[in-house]
Amino acid sequence: MIGLFDSGVGGLSVFREIRKLLPEESYIYYSDNAHCPYGEKTKEYIIDRARTITHFLMEKGCRIIVVACNTATAAAISTLRAEFPIRFIGMEPAIKPAARMTKTGVVGVLATAGTLKATKYIDTREKWAQDVRIVEHIGQGFVELVERGVTSGPEAEETVSRSLRPLIEEGADTIVLGCTHYPFLTDTILKTAGRQVTVIDPAPAVARHLVEVMEEEGLLDGTSGGFNIELHSSGDDTCLKTTYGNLL
Ligand code: DGL
Repeated sequence: MIGLFDSGVGGLSVFREIRKLLPEESYIYYSDNAHCPYGEKTKEYIIDRARTITHFLMEKGCRIIVVACNTATAAAISTLRAEFPIRFIGMEPAIKPAARMTKTGVVGVLATAGTLKATKYIDTREKWAQDVRIVEHIGQGFVELVERGVTSGPEAEETVSRSLRPLIEEGADTIVLGCTHYPFLTDTILKTAGRQVTVIDPAPAVARHLVEVMEEEGLLDGTSGGFNIELHSSGDDTCLKTTYGNLL
């Protein structure tokens, strides 16, 4: 059984990619929406939430956990790996592919405040972005929009445009989505960019990595009995059910 968690519905953008590769597995998805957003919370707060959710997922029988949240990965994954005897797969900001892909030499990164200031992100940027210029912006209000199920229309376009415009004005032609909620806004991002941009979602790469690790660890044993998912949330589950329903 594969566990996934996020501060809300964002991790479903990762689940969507995982399910394409592992359609016969069993999943438990935990949306921590009573504590959402994580983006402005302290590292200690996020570690505490990540521990509580990990206990829950392990008690439910999960043998591997996908931290389907960039902010929680940056804040908590090293603590989780040190404290729990199972494998954790985290999110990586897709700076490396973006640096290869850009033609203008400018890569835009949209992420939460917590991700952008984390050592994990800063190290990735130092390592892979030496020959390109990185411009960053918090996706201000993006998570709240997605948690309300608003991913298109005038309100979404206005909110997206406010954070995207500075990146476009700096010359970015490649936009890295550094928060798992943001892929639900991809169409709005493409529409409001005003010119051709490439949007990079790291979820397909994370899904491929999960498969490799599960193969290595012998976790793909085919005993799950076919596809199954349990959805849990710490708050109201309306958006979780609707967003999940829209994935199908
Ligand atoms: N989906 C999240 C991420 O990938 C969390 C966003 C938030 O709660 O602020 O960073």
